[in-house]
Amino acid sequence: MHRNAVPAAGSKLAVIGAGAVGSSVAYAALLRGSARTIALYDLKKEKVEAEVLDLAHGSPLASGARIIGGDDITCVQGADVVVITAGAAQRPGQTRLDLAGTNVSILRSLMPQLLEQAPDAVYVLVTNPCDVLTVAALGISGLPAGRVFASGTVLDTSRLRNLLSWMTGVSARSIHATIAGEHGDSEFGLWSSATVGGVPLRECRGADGTLSFTDAALDDLGHQVAEAAYTVIQGKGATNLAVGVSAARIVEAVLTDEHAVLPVSSLLDGYQGISGVAMSIPSVVGRQGVIRRLDVPMDEREQARLHASADALRAVQESLGI
Ligand code: 2OP
Repeated sequence: MHRNAVPAAGSKLAVIGAGAVGSSVAYAALLRGSARTIALYDLKKEKVEAEVLDLAHGSPLASGARIIGGDDITCVQGADVVVITAGAAQRPGQTRLDLAGTNVSILRSLMPQLLEQAPDAVYVLVTNPCDVLTVAALGISGLPAGRVFASGTVLDTSRLRNLLSWMTGVSARSIHATIAGEHGDSEFGLWSSATVGGVPLRECRGADGTLSFTDAALDDLGHQVAEAAYTVIQGKGATNLAVGVSAARIVEAVLTDEHAVLPVSSLLDGYQGISGVAMSIPSVVGRQGVIRRLDVPMDEREQARLHASADALRAVQESLGI
């Protein structure tokens, strides 16, 4: 089957929210050439117009994408992919789940307006808690489950691969290892299926010949990844650059109908007996959004972590009446 190597001419990405995250999504998409048109929308007129100008000024030196946007929602019209970043962001001391109530309310007013402008788009939630917001957005929109999903643990997985690359001296591109579950405190590593250049992670040996990734080492690694956002927020007040790249990567998978396997978060319907919550599982992503989730081998511990993550998310959804 033919697949486009580059986004089709006319492909349009709309980014909702021109804060640190939204601007970084647009910037990453501009540099990477993820879409031919990038629209940035925000209620704050001066801020969004300034971001649009700043991005447009760099466009001829990057992918040449057409940059449009402002505080008029019609700039989103006809978008193929809509990335939602609008909402309250985590401050030092807050968890992602603390933001749920505020950001679900924002979504309730935003989603119907977006659907009017871009009824055929694939919707990618980046605003946190992105798993919970995915379920809320599906309920509000009535769209098919695959067309509304969250960036989930694509970012955490990138953080993991970066750490593993430092530890093994192997390019992150040759490392296949995934963080699954909630994009948040209950996330966990899929160690059973992780490989470095095809070698199972648990069988990787250091220079002295000893096994590098014992259970204790893997626990520590998972902890470091889950803590990573807190470390960045503590230091610079927000995380924005890496999430921008993550979202741009997802947009490319959609616009090129790539069928890439990415750990995005989508509504589960019987996956390992779990339904009604959205969580990150390695999933095939293409023009229709999430096409399917892979049946990744999980040992008993990983299965238990998957169910614990589902329970944590379900509790938040129940408290919000979702
Ligand atoms: C992150 O993981 C805070 O969800 C954001 O960087």
